[in-house]
Amino acid sequence: MSTAADRTVTVFGADANALVPVMEIMHAAFDPVYGEAWNAAQCAAVIGGPGVWLLIAELDGRPAGFALTRSIVDEAELLLIAVHPDARRCGVGAALLEAVLDGCRQRSVDRVFLEVRACNSAIGLYTSFGFCKVGERRNYYRGANGRLYDAHSYSLTLKNLKN
Ligand SMILES: CC(C)(COP(=O)(O)OP(=O)(O)OC[C@H]1O[C@@H](n2cnc3c(N)ncnc32)[C@H](O)[C@@H]1OP(=O)(O)O)[C@@H](O)C(=O)NCCC(=O)NCCS
Repeated sequence: MSTAADRTVTVFGADANALVPVMEIMHAAFDPVYGEAWNAAQCAAVIGGPGVWLLIAELDGRPAGFALTRSIVDEAELLLIAVHPDARRCGVGAALLEAVLDGCRQRSVDRVFLEVRACNSAIGLYTSFGFCKVGERRNYYRGANGRLYDAHSYSLTLKNLKN
């Protein structure tokens, strides 16, 4: 039986040519009930924009996850991170987040922000990297059924962390 430790995760930078695998992972990863996913037009409008970088993760050679980040001067926002349900708990999300933070350091970013739906289990990933809750946004997400969901804001100060 293979374990997470046997799997090979690789992360690399990508551009708008990767929109197809990004959207495949997006549709599989996000439950439409919560309204967190972006559509292809939203992604295409952001990818390639100023300060934006896209990372793709492969698990055993197959696209398994992606992260989209935007930096402005010394701050960055993790806009999206997602891993295909079939590839979860194999370290893909952690590898992506580590690569996001490496990219932030290369861009001299001091502080990284993100919004996450309250109760999203992704919070477990963020806090494992040292992200701390810094605020709440009421009714931030509009779900498929019109129901609104709160978001929590998290941040990580990079200059206090060792590489
Ligand atoms: C959040 C997400 C990206 C995590 O991806 P992943 O590849 O499963 O994460 P990893 O295997 O690298 O997990 C690393 C660590 O993060 C934490 N973690 C990850 N998923 C977790 C969960 N569901 N519950 C609690 N902790 C979790 C754990 O500490 C985990 O370490 P462990 O497996 O040794 O316990 C993935 O669940 C996902 O795509 N969710 C749907 C999309 C989403 O909501 N994205 C965030 C909002 S933009």
